[in-house]
Amino acid sequence: MATRTQIVAGNWKMNGSKSLIKEIAQAVAQKKNNAEVIIFPPAMLIEQAVSEGLSVGTQTVSEYEKGAFTGEIQALLAKELGATFTLVGHSERRAIYGESDNDVANKFAHAQASGLIPILCVGETEEERESNQTETVVARQLEAVIEKVGIAALANSVVAYEPVWAIGTGKTASPEQAQAVHKFIRNLLSEKDQQVASGLRILYGGSVNEENSESLFAQADIDGGLIGGASLKPQSFLAICNSAKG
Ligand code: PGA
Repeated sequence: MATRTQIVAGNWKMNGSKSLIKEIAQAVAQKKNNAEVIIFPPAMLIEQAVSEGLSVGTQTVSEYEKGAFTGEIQALLAKELGATFTLVGHSERRAIYGESDNDVANKFAHAQASGLIPILCVGETEEERESNQTETVVARQLEAVIEKVGIAALANSVVAYEPVWAIGTGKTASPEQAQAVHKFIRNLLSEKDQQVASGLRILYGGSVNEENSESLFAQADIDGGLIGGASLKPQSFLAICNSAKG
């Protein structure tokens, strides 16, 4: 099995401040392992986060190169400011801003073409889980991207499995529930390219905190986490980083 360095990513959403960047940078500097830490602050804080020595990404990115797209986040400019990653297809972007599978695929492709590493977020709603649609939904979300960019492009990306019912709700998927979907994702990709599948980091997201992170990160196909609420608390976030393997 390929060795996969675990990632702990903090998705700040529309929260945070200049002073929190400093506090998080100080906390992350005390990390005791080799896990990779990436912060996704509001775009306006990217430059400062980079200057504090953090590895940084944007929370979304426009699928267009430049032009009359008021308010959008430009991949090339994010890269110029020092961002190296971007989230694509976070469930809040899909649900609140109506991003379709096809939009997400276009954003993934454009991010990579601009030199940003995409973290592709997938996951089912509670209704979909209850009607046994989890695998169908996750497969559809992944296939839309693979159809656009090809399986080889996934080698330079990360996937985050985030069940929508677990985001911001305090209802975490159990390590076994999460592992089952992670394994499903890796098997699905393995049918297309075994090497890409075994090297791909698949993160779990949805109410990860310092109490549950260790048991989640210990699962065979879970390679770290995408953390929302707890990534805004420096000591909790540090504890989560330290619970990663690596
Ligand atoms: P949460 O958010 O940890 O607050 O559930 C996770 C996410 O939305 O990425």
